[in-house]
Parts: sequence; structure tokens; C-alpha cells
Amino acid sequence: MLTNTPPPPAATPLPPTPPLPRRIKLRLQRAYLDWKGPRRERQWLYSWPFINSVEGWMTLGQERWLFEAAYSLASPANIVEIGSFKGRSTVALASGCRGRRKRVFSIDTFDGGGWDLDQRDFFAEFSENVKRCRVSQHVTVLRGKSTDVASGWSRPIHMLFIDGCHEYEAAKADFDCYFPHVVPGGIVAFHDVNEDWPGVLRLWNETVRDRLVDVGDCHSLAHGRKRKR
Ligand SMILES: C[S@@+](CC[C@H](N)C(=O)[O-])C[C@H]1O[C@@H](n2cnc3c(N)ncnc32)[C@H](O)[C@@H]1O
Repeated sequence: MLTNTPPPPAATPLPPTPPLPRRIKLRLQRAYLDWKGPRRERQWLYSWPFINSVEGWMTLGQERWLFEAAYSLASPANIVEIGSFKGRSTVALASGCRGRRKRVFSIDTFDGGGWDLDQRDFFAEFSENVKRCRVSQHVTVLRGKSTDVASGWSRPIHMLFIDGCHEYEAAKADFDCYFPHVVPGGIVAFHDVNEDWPGVLRLWNETVRDRLVDVGDCHSLAHGRKRKR
């Protein structure tokens, strides 16, 4: 017989059973979270092969960030993307819109522009990608120079993603034209905020960052929310 065995720890009493209405509330909350969590993940898992089939410059999980940002917006929502190229970021954003009244306005000349892109005439490829990735109903194409398109713009913007011409003056013109339309609390994101793109980095540091709250980054994709006042 063991004589030096320590006594077992005292049992922790069970918490009292909550009353029925509280139990029902807890059960409903759990069911809602079970339903909500997997839906988002299912939507991402379905979308990723499509997004990843499109040529583009997103890196290191930035597609996921765009998807999540679009998904997080309350419906209805307008997302403005300046600089779509062949549609990689467009498809990422539009994938977060599936099943909701959310729309990505893709603004691009689809013909390069600036000194930073030597490819030309990729509109057909962009259109084919959007169709093939089954997001056409969430994408409105506005083909033209971003500042020209801005002159006729009047809708509230719930998310603004700027990835057009990376020269300082051009990127600043994009920000100046579209930022006034962003609703308070709306998401503002810039791609290529790093030393490789000094114009975008300077604009972010001098003009954009201080006008936002909740500032963060996903590698070179810097983002925040427009101040409420
Ligand atoms: C870096 S690419 C965009 C990459 C894209 N977001 C992706 O996911 O792959 C920049 C795009 O901006 C467009 N662009 C450049 N200057 C522009 C301007 N002034 N107005 C509209 N689009 C412009 C180019 O045609 C090009 O497609």
C-alpha cells in the first residue's frame, strides 16, 4: 500500500447551469459563429485558385488581405481600385464580395502608363480573367485615365485601393481626387509603399498616413481607415 501518495486535488465545482433563456441565447450565438466562420473560409478556399491563376504584382498574402477587407465591409459597398492590370487584385477584392451587394469599380487605362510599366493593351486579358474567375457581377470596369474618371465620380467609396501610376505626382492626384469620396471610417490602402517606389512612399508618409486611423501594413500594402472627423 502506498503511504506517501499526495491527496488528489479538490474537485472544482461545476458552474451552475444557466437559466433556459440564457442557454438558448448561448446556443444561438454558437450556431451563428459556426455558420459565419466556415462561410468566410469556404469562400476564400473556393476563390484562391482563381485569384492565383491571374498574373499580377500582389505578394506575400496581400490577396488574402484584399479579400478580407472587401469581405469585412457592410453591404452594400463600393470599392474603388485604381490600377487593375490583368485583374489579380480585382479578383481578390471581388471574391470578398460574393453573395453580397458589393461592387469593385476597376479603373485603369489597361494600356500601361507612367514609366513603371512597359506592357500595353491588356484589356482583353483582364476581361477574360474576370469572367473566367466568375466575379463579373461584382466588377464594373471604368476604362480611362484615373483623373479623368474621377471628374464624373459621385458615389460614396467604402474602400479605396490605389495601385495605379507609382510616380509621386500621379499617385497624389489619385489620392486627392478620390479620398474626398471615401466615407468616414472607410478603408484606404496603397500598394508598393516601400523604398522601391519612393514616390508612393513619400506620398504615404507626407500626406496619407496622418489622415487615417488604424494604420497597418501587409508587407508593402499599407492601409488605414479615414478619420471619422
Ligand atoms: C502595378 S499595375 C496594377 C497591378 C494590379 N493591382 C495587380 O494586382 O496586379 C498598375 C496599373 O495602373 C495602370 N495605370 C497607370 N497609370 C494610370 C492612370 N493614370 N490611370 C489609370 N490607370 C493607370 C496601368 O495600366 C497598370 O495596369
